[in-house]
Amino acid sequence: MKKSQAMTISPEWDEIEMVRNKSSKFFEQNGIPDEIVHSATMVVSELLENGIKYGDFSKNKSRVGVDISINSNTITVEVSNPVNEVAYAYLKTLDKTIQWIRGFQDPFQAYTEMLKEVSRKPMSDENSGLGLVRIAYEGDAIIDFFVSDEGILNVSAIVDY
Ligand SMILES: Nc1ncnc2c1ncn2[C@@H]1O[C@H](COP(=O)(O)OP(=O)(O)O)[C@@H](O)[C@H]1O
Ligand SMILES: [Mg+2]
Repeated sequence: MKKSQAMTISPEWDEIEMVRNKSSKFFEQNGIPDEIVHSATMVVSELLENGIKYGDFSKNKSRVGVDISINSNTITVEVSNPVNEVAYAYLKTLDKTIQWIRGFQDPFQAYTEMLKEVSRKPMSDENSGLGLVRIAYEGDAIIDFFVSDEGILNVSAIVDY
């Protein structure tokens, strides 16, 4: 049976639901337990939201790539999108946030700290700043990223199960 699935989507909010459905079906068909299907699908949608929100799609045919694969004890979710110089500030925040999460022994602590932080700020649905900590805590995942020579950002999360 196929153990990995690659999707290429246009950077539109409407695509998220389609990718969520495809992903959870893929996980289910490969015998992943329900609880993990749920959290891994959450990871897919949080990373995808970020790719759509922070990617640079000014060039024609720019797409977001979503790759999900199942290994013996882990699920890897990778989302890639083009970035430009303007997005450099985002990348710094991305890097800082990932390092910050790693500084906690327990991702739950990072999550509660971020919740406190967020509750001090005015409400904003789109930029809660909770996506990555949610991936780390609820998805029990390790997050990483790199930028290729072609200016494509790849953010990955490895979910243990
Ligand atoms: N795909 C991405 N490209 C560039 N920057 C990103 C990307 N994903 C996350 N970031 C940076 O990391 C920050 C934290 O992401 P996240 O926790 O999902 O919060 P939010 O999406 O609510 O801003 C973002 O505000 C952004 O600066
Ligand atoms: Mg987010």
